[in-house]
Amino acid sequence: MKTFGCQMNENDSERIVTLLRRQGMTPALSEDVADVVVFNTCTIRENADNRFFGQVNKLRERRAVDSQMRIVVAGCLAQGEQEAIFDRAPHVDIVVGTHALGSIVELLDRSAGEQHVIDVSNTSEALDPLADLSAEPTDGHKAWVTIQTGCDNNCAFCIVPQVRGGEVSRPFQAVVDEVRNLASQGVSEVTLLGQNVNSYGRDLTRRLRAEQTGPTDRGYLTGQVYVSGSIARIRPLFADLLRAVGAVDGIRRVRFTSPHPKDMREETFRAMAESPAVCESLHFPLQSGSDRILAAMHRGYRGARFFEKLLEAREIVPDLAVTTDIIVGFPGETDDDFEATLELVARCEFDSAFTFIYSPRPGTEAGGWRDRFIAPEVIAERFERLKHVTERSAFAKHRERVGRIEEILIDGPSKRDASVASGRTRQNKLVHLAGVDGERERGSYVQARIVDASAHFLHGEVLRVRA
Ligand code: 5AD
Ligand code: SF4
Repeated sequence: MKTFGCQMNENDSERIVTLLRRQGMTPALSEDVADVVVFNTCTIRENADNRFFGQVNKLRERRAVDSQMRIVVAGCLAQGEQEAIFDRAPHVDIVVGTHALGSIVELLDRSAGEQHVIDVSNTSEALDPLADLSAEPTDGHKAWVTIQTGCDNNCAFCIVPQVRGGEVSRPFQAVVDEVRNLASQGVSEVTLLGQNVNSYGRDLTRRLRAEQTGPTDRGYLTGQVYVSGSIARIRPLFADLLRAVGAVDGIRRVRFTSPHPKDMREETFRAMAESPAVCESLHFPLQSGSDRILAAMHRGYRGARFFEKLLEAREIVPDLAVTTDIIVGFPGETDDDFEATLELVARCEFDSAFTFIYSPRPGTEAGGWRDRFIAPEVIAERFERLKHVTERSAFAKHRERVGRIEEILIDGPSKRDASVASGRTRQNKLVHLAGVDGERERGSYVQARIVDASAHFLHGEVLRVRA
């Protein structure tokens, strides 16, 4: 199983693995010995596409001599390119889109007698599109929980609505039940996933109002909180879901990603502050600091409004860490636009920022604005300047942690040094702990004093194991 892209894809890969395990398959050590290689693809930027084609092409020779082996291409690029995947990589056996993961076993069966098998349909009418697609978590102590699929926005740069479809919220009770089930298996941290998590429930409200559902479904769709209310007042909201998930026995940490700044409401910040399990960590994607570019992107907010919401979040949720996404070189971005981004980013003092070079995506609105594309050397220079500003604030934020005592959830041994354990604070900062057996303490909570900081991680000394 090879996964590209975001956490949503990681979670989908867990579903695929769970489906294949039920068929008696076991994960292979490498693609060189696997009977079935599944690529779960991403197409958010061109380099994601290229990395996938590079990797799948490496299997061409082996596939040519191994008639039993199967190559499956799943996910966003599969949904976007459809049959065209076979044109560029004819040795691929199966293409399965983002809505059809559940048919993967049937497609493997079909591919015994057919050369190129494809399912990119989106026909599910089920109340919960993921009902039959459970995901066993890869880590025993942490799990992703998809609460919503697709996106109803139309950011001019973004391919996601094309390849993931419109927003579909999973029923409130289905999410809470899944979290309960995970907690009963020892999971203590969940991350709620969606393309636009804080518009969670908008479509459920529409479905309820259209009375497409019977009374039994109603409780399932909205959770117990709303069952007794009149239908006109029923409004399952992300803030309620945060509280409900945070109240599940055994859950010590709740995270979520990603919200859209335009839909971020005070009630969500309140739920974060008032639910002890919900972590002090917020991913808040700015994209640009120029009002002109934000408007061209159709982001639905101006820089000043974003900043106000950020201040509100920090006021309501004490000790909040905020991360962001920024795109450099969106078509038409002038020097002044970029200066506005630098200025706002500096003012926001993000804990960290994911910075991306704009990548034209076929079929998106901005992908057609060729006459406004920015020269690569201009973008490269802007990118470096932006990185300087974001790293400065990341480092400053990390330095502020030195001397503090933090709760750390241990993820395992550090990748570089087995005598060091790595984990995350509630603010989601990576901490290395020397002299801790990461293998043994995987999944435990420890108290540690932060003793040193760099721009990307912290060093801590454990005070108490199993906090
Ligand atoms: N080019 C560059 N970055 C992009 N993103 C989305 N689409 C593009 C694109 N075409 C970035 C946005 C988003 C993050 C997940 O990826 O910043 O928030
Ligand atoms: Fe893309 Fe905007 Fe949807 Fe995020 S919210 S996935 S940026 S369209």
